[in-house]
Amino acid sequence: MGFKVMGANRHLEDTVTEPAVPDLASLTIGVLGGTGPQGKGLALRWAVAGLRVVIGSRSAERAEKAAAELAELAVSVNPSAEVSGADNHGCAAAADLVLVAVPWDGHDALLTSLREQLAGKIVIDCVNPLGFDKQGPFPLRVAEGSAAQQAAALLPESRVTAAFHHVSAVTLADLSVPKIDLDVLVLGEDRAATDQVRALADTIPGVRGVYGGRLRNAGQVEALTANLIAINRRYKTHAGIRITDLP
Ligand SMILES: NC(=O)c1ccc[n+]([C@@H]2O[C@H](COP(=O)([O-])OP(=O)(O)OC[C@H]3O[C@@H](n4cnc5c(N)ncnc54)[C@H](OP(=O)(O)O)[C@@H]3O)[C@@H](O)[C@H]2O)c1
Repeated sequence: MGFKVMGANRHLEDTVTEPAVPDLASLTIGVLGGTGPQGKGLALRWAVAGLRVVIGSRSAERAEKAAAELAELAVSVNPSAEVSGADNHGCAAAADLVLVAVPWDGHDALLTSLREQLAGKIVIDCVNPLGFDKQGPFPLRVAEGSAAQQAAALLPESRVTAAFHHVSAVTLADLSVPKIDLDVLVLGEDRAATDQVRALADTIPGVRGVYGGRLRNAGQVEALTANLIAINRRYKTHAGIRITDLP
């Protein structure tokens, strides 16, 4: 797929240069709520890939404990792996890229409290606002449209993206699974930010980061997790998604 730039705009388009995407090895990745399965799982895979990771928690002590456990696991695969822990405030302040991996219930209050520490940074929201009843999982209605759009509204000075909604924490934690068969949809308004997050997804073997549209399209990506959980329950698996026919 492609399109041509016509007429007077052509010259303008030719001269536009995209901002460079920094090398991930030079950055620190923060994981808010990194003591839970999702944050821990992603942190483990990133540490194994050689990235510097800081686990965040409401309690510095819990963060340090989780970081020590992850460091031990990661170092057994990559001796130079680095994982540290801090309270969420310290984690957000220390990191260049910050994953939000807390339950939907705590999303609004946590992000509101970290607005200053997250200013100017790439924030990655993986939160799925879901409910569960007798019929199984279902997407909750979110006033802003999605968790990611709520993050963008609460963090006007941050570069908010949405990604990692469909990756299974169980698979991430299992280092006997060397490659994870998954596309990670990355949404956002800022091309350099979504490129950076795609590159972060690509550090996990088998995973491919794919641009998935603007944040106004995050609601259905978050909601799709309800379908994946229903699939997992029926087929006793950890299902993910793949996008076909990409170059
Ligand atoms: N689990 C998965 O497979 C998966 C997959 C894709 C996306 N996600 C999304 O990732 C997020 C985290 O999932 P999870 O399964 O890891 O969740 P979780 O275990 O319920 O929560 C993660 C961490 O968040 C912190 N936390 C709990 N309540 C909080 C609150 N009210 N305010 C601030 N922090 C709070 C806790 O850490 P401290 O007590 O140490 O602060 C907890 O360890 C969820 O939004 C989920 O939708 C999960």
